[in-house]
Amino acid sequence: MCDVTAETPVRTLRFSTLRKLSDLLDPQGTWRTVMMDINKPTGEARYTQLHLRRFDAVVVQGKSPTIEMLSDWGTTNCTVADLMEILIRHKLFAAVSVLLPDYKISSTDAALQYKAATSAPVAFLQGSACPEVTKPVEDITKTPREPDSSTGPEDISKSLITWRSSEGFYRFTHGELTVITGNWDERPVSEGGCRLGAGGFGVVFRGLMGNTPVAVKKLNPMDDSSPEDLRNQFNQEIQTLKSLKHVNLVEMVGYSSDGQHLCLVYAFMPNGSLLDRLACLDGSPSLSWQMRCSIATGTARGLEYLHCNNHIHRDVKSGNILLDHHFVPKISDFGLTRASGKRSCSTVMTERIVGTTAYMAPEALRGEITPKSDIFSFGVVLLEILSGLPPVDESRDPKLLMEMKDEIDDEEASLEDFIDQKMKGWRMQEAEKMYEVASQCLCEKKNKRPPVTESVRSDSSDVKTSLKFIKIEK
Ligand SMILES: Nc1ncnc2c1ncn2[C@@H]1O[C@H](COP(=O)(O)OP(=O)(O)OP(=O)(O)O)[C@@H](O)[C@H]1O
Ligand SMILES: [Mg+2]
Repeated sequence: MCDVTAETPVRTLRFSTLRKLSDLLDPQGTWRTVMMDINKPTGEARYTQLHLRRFDAVVVQGKSPTIEMLSDWGTTNCTVADLMEILIRHKLFAAVSVLLPDYKISSTDAALQYKAATSAPVAFLQGSACPEVTKPVEDITKTPREPDSSTGPEDISKSLITWRSSEGFYRFTHGELTVITGNWDERPVSEGGCRLGAGGFGVVFRGLMGNTPVAVKKLNPMDDSSPEDLRNQFNQEIQTLKSLKHVNLVEMVGYSSDGQHLCLVYAFMPNGSLLDRLACLDGSPSLSWQMRCSIATGTARGLEYLHCNNHIHRDVKSGNILLDHHFVPKISDFGLTRASGKRSCSTVMTERIVGTTAYMAPEALRGEITPKSDIFSFGVVLLEILSGLPPVDESRDPKLLMEMKDEIDDEEASLEDFIDQKMKGWRMQEAEKMYEVASQCLCEKKNKRPPVTESVRSDSSDVKTSLKFIKIEK
């Protein structure tokens, strides 16, 4: 080692030296701090996120990202002095002493450290001097940035090396999400694991970013769709939630796209999905009539917002209506969302029929894409809210909940018998009103369905008023 000087080219460093550096810089992704501070002669950052993912990916081959990075940078004839400057700036003195054991930290170095520690994002966002960074991660995690060497899983999650992109989302590495989900612990949350549920596109895990719970959806390709479809849905979800923000739409926290799986990270909804709460899953109490009315109203508002912003959801269902602490409904899953053109009534055709059959309008089953189909699906959700019954039940006659409407309309069944007996506080007149709205949403002819309009009322505590959320067009 004594032959190394400040002028030594990085590419000529011995493997044993590189190995020692990697022992110090590989853990907790510290190498990224160095990497993101390497500039081209023009002053621009030499490395982008693509490089970062490439170096990250070598871990699965048992290689060191630090060595890969230094080998790559070494091709530019950079010297140990260049590397030292970056290491000192980030207080990585153990690595400095690997290169030059006799090096003494000077007051200039201390000044550099001070500069690094006060000029976010480089120093604070360990692993990212990404040009897109706008805010340090503390804004959401409120946790210290310095990695803690006493490494329980929670400690590691506190030192997550993430950054926030210009879209306002955090970009995680797959490794970071592995940590915050307890290594993708598939045991249900009720049994001490992290699994919140699963759907057609993958499993959803509960994760902890410091003390903040999040929901991490790990996308899996379905049998009948390609990896390209999955990536399109992933991108669609991010694009939609980037541009659309509303109290009744789920909030995205971030995502990861390195590693084998695409993952989406959302604000955690402690009361799960409307589907599960109507089924009183895990012994949860039945939702009262008043809560159901306010959930219906909030969902209508969320849909109204989507439609007014020229978006069609295409998979409206109780499983995609999540409930926060106060049971405020949040529409989720925008992977199938389509922009509907300038006028929200416009219709487009697709060859790929998507959605959940038990909620799908006749025209949606034929491949038409129109906001009117979301209204139809919302009608099925209203029937679920009224009855507490699942949208499809193989052992029931009729199997599809939407077909119950025909039974009631033909007086083969009464609305009173249809109403969820577990529910407290309902009144027949109000239930009839909700059924009337549901019935209109479920009209076979799409143009006879009511639009979700501005007539959404703000006072959801008045049940009668709240049910006027849809303007009935006769
Ligand atoms: N942000 C969240 N907070 C809490 N739980 C969530 C969150 N997102 C999803 N879940 C849980 O995970 C379950 C599965 O969600 P997911 O969206 O994968 O499937 P789904 O909605 O049932 O079906 P689909 O894949 O057709 O959308 C939900 O039903 C809900 O219980
Ligand atoms: Mg869903």
